[in-house]
This record gives sequence, C-alpha cells and structure tokens, in this order.
Amino acid sequence: MDILSLLQNRYSVRDFKDTPVEKEKLDKILEAARVAPTAKNMQPQRIFVIETKESLEKIREITPSAYNAPTVLMICADTDVAWTRNNDGWCAAPIDSSIVTCHMMLEAESLGLNSVWVCAFNKEKVKNAFNLPDNIVPYSLLPVGYKSDECEPNPRHFERQSIDDFVKRI
Ligand SMILES: Cc1cc2nc3c(=O)[nH]c(=O)nc-3n(C[C@H](O)[C@H](O)[C@H](O)COP(=O)(O)O)c2cc1C
Repeated sequence: MDILSLLQNRYSVRDFKDTPVEKEKLDKILEAARVAPTAKNMQPQRIFVIETKESLEKIREITPSAYNAPTVLMICADTDVAWTRNNDGWCAAPIDSSIVTCHMMLEAESLGLNSVWVCAFNKEKVKNAFNLPDNIVPYSLLPVGYKSDECEPNPRHFERQSIDDFVKRI
C-alpha cells in the first residue's frame, strides 16, 4: 500500500483482541522509532515497552486510554539530550517524540496492527509509577494490538476539514 493510502485508511483503535504483538513486528516498530528524524539528530527518544501484566495494570490504573491493548508503548524524551534553541531556550523534545510516535503508529499500521495515540494521562503519576527520573518526560502513549472484530472508527474520525480550510497560499 502506498503511504497516502495507508494514511487515509488508518483510524484510531480503542478496542483490541487479546492476541499479543509478535516480537518481529514490535522490533520493526521500534526500528521505525530509531530512524525517526530529530532536531540536530540528538535522538532524545526513550521508549518503554509496557507489556507485562504488572506494568499493563499500572498504566491502565493511571489512564483509561491505555484501553485493553496487549502492548502499550510509552514515548518519552530525555530533556537533557534534546536540542534546545539558543535564542529562546525552546526545547525540541515534544516535537521529536511526536515524530517518533508517528513513525511507530504508521509502521504498526503497515504491519496490519492498530493503535491509538494517547496524551490523556497524568504525567506525574506515570513518572512515579515507572520511576522515571526528572529528565525523562513521557509525552505520549501508543497502545498497540489487533483491533477487535466489532471495532469501527469513531464518528470523529470522519470529521475532516477540506484542504482549503487549513491551507493558505501566500
Ligand atoms: C496528540 C494526540 C493526542 C491524542 N490523545 C488521545 C487520548 O488521550 N485518548 C484517545 O482515545 N485518543 C487520543 N487521540 C486520538 C485522536 O482523538 C484521533 O486521532 C482523532 O480523533 C482523529 O481520529 P482518527 O485517529 O480515528 O482519524 C490523540 C491523538 C493525537 C494526535
């Protein structure tokens, strides 16, 4: 499938089968994270693969948006490593980690897996639950697995602007 068709067909999945994510597929998803572009190639991404019963219970306790995925990827960045702009101190960590998340989301989709990007969680609770030091900031979760047979796109998925609504040629 060409990349535009993949993008047009993808939708957020919030109901998964119990089927685990195969190791070979997870390895490819993590490879997609490895090759993601980051500001000044500082590669601040730090990814935690949440897949043990204990860790899944922890994340599901913190947020309902982990859903029932068999694997949840927690995408963090090391803010001591991420590029910071000289003139105003702005840090690229959230953008870098978002590109990494996007790479993994799309690689998962291309492998026949499904996922949903999640930011609705309490950052401090996540940091405490997984003992993250101050410089490791969790930005997103990516629950990954195979969608249930009943799963349909949320109606919101279809609410898309037209190109003219958000593009201005100047
Ligand atoms: C930055 C970001 C944060 C999101 N956070 C959540 C979330 O916390 N919980 C959730 O169920 N979906 C979350 N989503 C999924 C969006 O709701 C979804 O992508 C959007 O409604 C479009 O639907 P679609 O992905 O099916 O096309 C998030 C998506 C993005 C890009």
